[in-house]
Amino acid sequence: MKLFVALLVSALAISSSFAFDPSQLQDICVAVDEPKNAVFVNGKFCKNPNLTVADDFLFRGINIPRDTNNSVGSIVTMVAVDQLPGLNTLGISLARIDYAPSGLNPPHIHPRATEVIMCVQGELYVGFVLSNQLGNRLVTRILKPGDVFVFPFAMIHFQLNIGKTAAVAISSLSSQNPGVITIANAVFGSKPLIDPKVLTKAFQVDKKTIDYLESQFISIK
Ligand SMILES: *[C@@H]1O[C@H](CO)[C@@H](O)[C@H](O)[C@H]1NC(C)=O
Ligand SMILES: *[C@@H]1O[C@H](CO)[C@@H](O)[C@H](O)[C@H]1NC(C)=O
Repeated sequence: MKLFVALLVSALAISSSFAFDPSQLQDICVAVDEPKNAVFVNGKFCKNPNLTVADDFLFRGINIPRDTNNSVGSIVTMVAVDQLPGLNTLGISLARIDYAPSGLNPPHIHPRATEVIMCVQGELYVGFVLSNQLGNRLVTRILKPGDVFVFPFAMIHFQLNIGKTAAVAISSLSSQNPGVITIANAVFGSKPLIDPKVLTKAFQVDKKTIDYLESQFISIK
């Protein structure tokens, strides 16, 4: 019985330390860097609620287009807990994505969030790939202004601007800190690099091809 209780307690401890953004236990929990008189709530420390100000809940400038002149032709403006401290523990965040013509938000995953995306301007070819269990089926659509699409939790997904003009999308994500793993950068641009023996077999190509791919991502960074 004692062993059972000990196992149960440790299981609960593990599950809570790896939990998603938790259910709300208080009205607000504005993130604060200085943990003086603060408590830890599976995220950042909370500011004393009585000391919070309206600006803790405000982020301005998501209407401003950003420079897309980079190797993929897109840029993400994230409004997560690091940019908007009032999001702490609330399980939600927002992003704006700008795309140059032919710009790509390359295949990536959010390890902690589902994403709902709305095309605001332009024409986007978007899609996600289901897991191995579902045969890696590709699910795609073309989005025009006003169209909304969902990228389910942790699935590999992308958006490509197929229109002749710049495109803009707004996304909502189900975490205060969704995280992002860009597949190509993580696999071919890790630090240090993954041993080519791993990648030649995984991708069924020769070492020259792996060296070339790695060189692309080293030069980006
Ligand atoms: C915040 O203000 C309320 C109401 O004045 C008070 O009861 C509470 O103790 C204060 N909380 C903290 C953490 O200072
Ligand atoms: C885009 O960036 C490249 C490299 O930084 C630069 O040479 C080029 O002038 C830029 N183009 C525009 C239109 O800003």
